[in-house]
Amino acid sequence: MDGNGRWAESKGKHRVFGHKHGVKSLRRAISFASEKQIQALTIYAFSSENWKRPEKEVTMLMELFFTVLGSEVKKLHKHNIKLKIIGEVSGFSERIQKKIAQAEKLTENNSGLALNVAANYGGRWDITQAAKQLAGLVQKGELTLDEITEDRLSSAINLDQLPAVDLMIRTGGDHRISNFLLWQLAYAELYFSDILWPDFNAQAFQDALDVFSGKERRFGQTSEQVALG
Ligand code: IPE
Ligand code: MG
Repeated sequence: MDGNGRWAESKGKHRVFGHKHGVKSLRRAISFASEKQIQALTIYAFSSENWKRPEKEVTMLMELFFTVLGSEVKKLHKHNIKLKIIGEVSGFSERIQKKIAQAEKLTENNSGLALNVAANYGGRWDITQAAKQLAGLVQKGELTLDEITEDRLSSAINLDQLPAVDLMIRTGGDHRISNFLLWQLAYAELYFSDILWPDFNAQAFQDALDVFSGKERRFGQTSEQVALG
């Protein structure tokens, strides 16, 4: 969800204004995904690197995160959406951690859209924490080296319970992954849009899906093999 700051600055406003409008845009995207019966939507709200931003902006983003978690979770629940926060949650204040736990608990049995919010998240962190989990098992003698396979590592990485990521959308004009779901994006289609996040609407989301639908996904095979199924 990139481009909040530039969107605000282009209107002569403070970056905070952009983040607030970014939340509106996010609400719209969640409704769209839910209505289209998309199985899972993972949004990058705050990266491990975003702490390096000016203190005032970080504080404001945390406040916004806290407020939005509180104000939106009932609505999410009403729409049968299952919320999960992925990332190093221990890096947040106690008060935010509590809110996160409550929000996840309330929605844990919902069967609609799986909404994952990546917060204090980094793809490298995710792979590292998974490696650590397996190393722990080896240390305890519960896992042998030969049992460390791609599947076994996958199972320790976030979102393992969900189908593989099909499509990654980045707004704001940059063509980068910026430490998002590094492991999970191995075979995802990458879609980059110049639209700044607060302007990303249902039509823009649909455009991305249309481009995705037109792609042939070969997963390493040839076109001919794919055609034969
Ligand atoms: C993305 O918008 C939102 C967050 C990282 C929280 P930016 O804040 O990165 O906006 P630009 O890239 O400066 O326009
Ligand atoms: Mg940015």
